[in-house]
Amino acid sequence: MAIQKVMVIGAGQMGSGIAQVCAQSGYDVILNDIKQEFLDRGIQVITQNLSRDVEKGRKSEEEKVATLSRITQSLDIKDAVDVDIIIEAATENMDIKQSIFREIDAIAPKDAILATNTSSLPITEIAAVTERPEQVIGMHFMNPVPVMKLVEIIRGLATTDEVYKAVEDMTVTLAKTPVEVNDFPGFVSNRILMPMINEAIYTLYEGVASKEAIDSVMKLGMNHPMGPLTLADFIGLDTCLSIMEILYEGFGDSKYRPCPLLRKYVAAGWLGKKSGRGFYVYD
Ligand code: CAA
Repeated sequence: MAIQKVMVIGAGQMGSGIAQVCAQSGYDVILNDIKQEFLDRGIQVITQNLSRDVEKGRKSEEEKVATLSRITQSLDIKDAVDVDIIIEAATENMDIKQSIFREIDAIAPKDAILATNTSSLPITEIAAVTERPEQVIGMHFMNPVPVMKLVEIIRGLATTDEVYKAVEDMTVTLAKTPVEVNDFPGFVSNRILMPMINEAIYTLYEGVASKEAIDSVMKLGMNHPMGPLTLADFIGLDTCLSIMEILYEGFGDSKYRPCPLLRKYVAAGWLGKKSGRGFYVYD
């Protein structure tokens, strides 16, 4: 199962990062989205990242040009006719993901792997709408994709060993570290990360300390690169809330109840860095 050609669906923060790391590792990439402006933005971010790598001496100008030349833009999902793997990084919504998977299942070559970058939606439920659940798998990259070393590889109930191995090998080729995980709510990353972030929000909500103090404790005391409230803003508070809801519903355990302050911020449209305001204010 040699993977050479990749389609990435979604040119947002995650999708553009995935397209970049695939192209710089030698894969031919089709970057697909529904609007040209989304593709333009994605390509712009990739170009900026590669230019910074050139400035810092991590890449040559030739490598930058070669990486960009391996990325083809696509506005039509039907371009998935001759790819070996499709990595879906569209909106985190089960209806949207299932509709994309139905469509790509009908178009992609019979032996192509269908992967999703979902951070918490069940792989098995996405796979169930296809005729090839054994070839569906979770490939969860971390943000920012070009920097973070982990890919959490999630096996759906039907995923075969052969498909797992092909994705594991690809992850190593991307210079990332694969970790094998089974399909349960939040997988490993968000089952551990999100309750920590939610607890930090409770700590603020209950007046135990200021947001700056909470972040300092975790940054300086635990050596985390970002405090949990800064990290929540970076991930997006709507994403944090939706993952907590998935944990709460999936396990039926009150320890996963989302903090009312998180709900309030999301209701106000304070979604973190992307909306200009979350726990902190951004320019
Ligand atoms: N794209 C590409 N490169 C980036 C980048 C981006 N978006 N952001 C930062 N970098 C690079 C910078 O260029 C810099 O490299 P050089 O100095 O060599 O040029 C390097 O990363 C460090 O950046 P900074 O000096 O600007 O800032 P920093 O030292 O604070 O690092 C960070 C930034 C890497 C984001 C760091 O703060 C960090 O690791 N934060 C935690 C990130 C994290 O936890 N991510 C997981 C989120 S959870 C998730 O993704 C899963 C989910 O399902 C929710």
